[in-house]
Amino acid sequence: MPLLEVKSVTKYYGKKRVLDNVSFSLEKGEILALLGPNGAGKTTLMRIIAEGLSHRGHVFFKGKILKDRSVIGYCPQEGILYEDLSAYANLKFYSYLHKRDGRWARKMMEKFEIPDKKVKELSGGMKKRLSIVIALVGEPELLILDEPTVGLDVESRHQVWEIIRSLREEGKGIILSTHYMEEAEHLADRVAIINEGKIISVDTVDELKRSSGIKSAIEIRGLFQEIPEGFVRENSSLVFYSQEPKRDLVNVVILASKVGKIKEVVVREPTLEDVFIKLTGRRLKE
Ligand SMILES: Nc1ncnc2c1ncn2[C@@H]1O[C@H](COP(=O)(O)OP(=O)(O)O)[C@@H](O)[C@H]1O
Ligand SMILES: [Mg+2]
Repeated sequence: MPLLEVKSVTKYYGKKRVLDNVSFSLEKGEILALLGPNGAGKTTLMRIIAEGLSHRGHVFFKGKILKDRSVIGYCPQEGILYEDLSAYANLKFYSYLHKRDGRWARKMMEKFEIPDKKVKELSGGMKKRLSIVIALVGEPELLILDEPTVGLDVESRHQVWEIIRSLREEGKGIILSTHYMEEAEHLADRVAIINEGKIISVDTVDELKRSSGIKSAIEIRGLFQEIPEGFVRENSSLVFYSQEPKRDLVNVVILASKVGKIKEVVVREPTLEDVFIKLTGRRLKE
């Protein structure tokens, strides 16, 4: 039995449908990444699970309709910290709500290397670690992390990844949202690709790549006036997704040379971003 099961969840804001028949499940000890651009519906979906925001469809926890949300630790995207209080005071406040004493708070601050300064003096990475610890206060089996590394520098991002991995090792089920494809690629056991309120595919990164039918991406760097049929643009490159690069390479180069000046041609493995573009026709970051 999965830890969490989301079945046919649909959500309207007024007349706008922001989630459309979303279904997926999560196992214990699994990290599932919701990967999608801004406005895809990630936060709404997480709020339905974590806060019980009104919706159509069902959310099951260990086979029963989810009612008691204290089994979930939720770390929203926007801060939940009191900036003028110290890190310890923040954590103690949330600990007391869950009838835990200050010793637990001290232990966790040590474990997650959070210095006891005023929150407004902490770095982005420290604040994020503190917010994750707060989500852990009730010893939840399921963690929901909304864009846990948005805006963090590379080092802080990797520290947060390590924490998330260690929580998976403890057996927690984790859903995180991201619009960073490296995050989905390096951290998640499975990725749910979400666009315009729909989950387009849920699978391992390898399987998403395999089933996309992209064997290679032929990337042509240079300056181009237009995008020829069958190509997509990535930054200043034209990209052609190919199942047989040896067969396609010459033709692809000829087509590209007709619309601009080629500087470099690279044949590379597909990335998750390529898969996303192939499935949705758009990029993750616009
Ligand atoms: N409280 C709200 N009222 C009306 N529309 C909302 C509300 N929250 C989100 N939306 C809309 O729902 C869509 C999905 O938003 P959101 O779930 O925040 O996406 P994401 O987290 O993937 O960026 C967006 O079009 C957004 O404008
Ligand atoms: Mg969001």
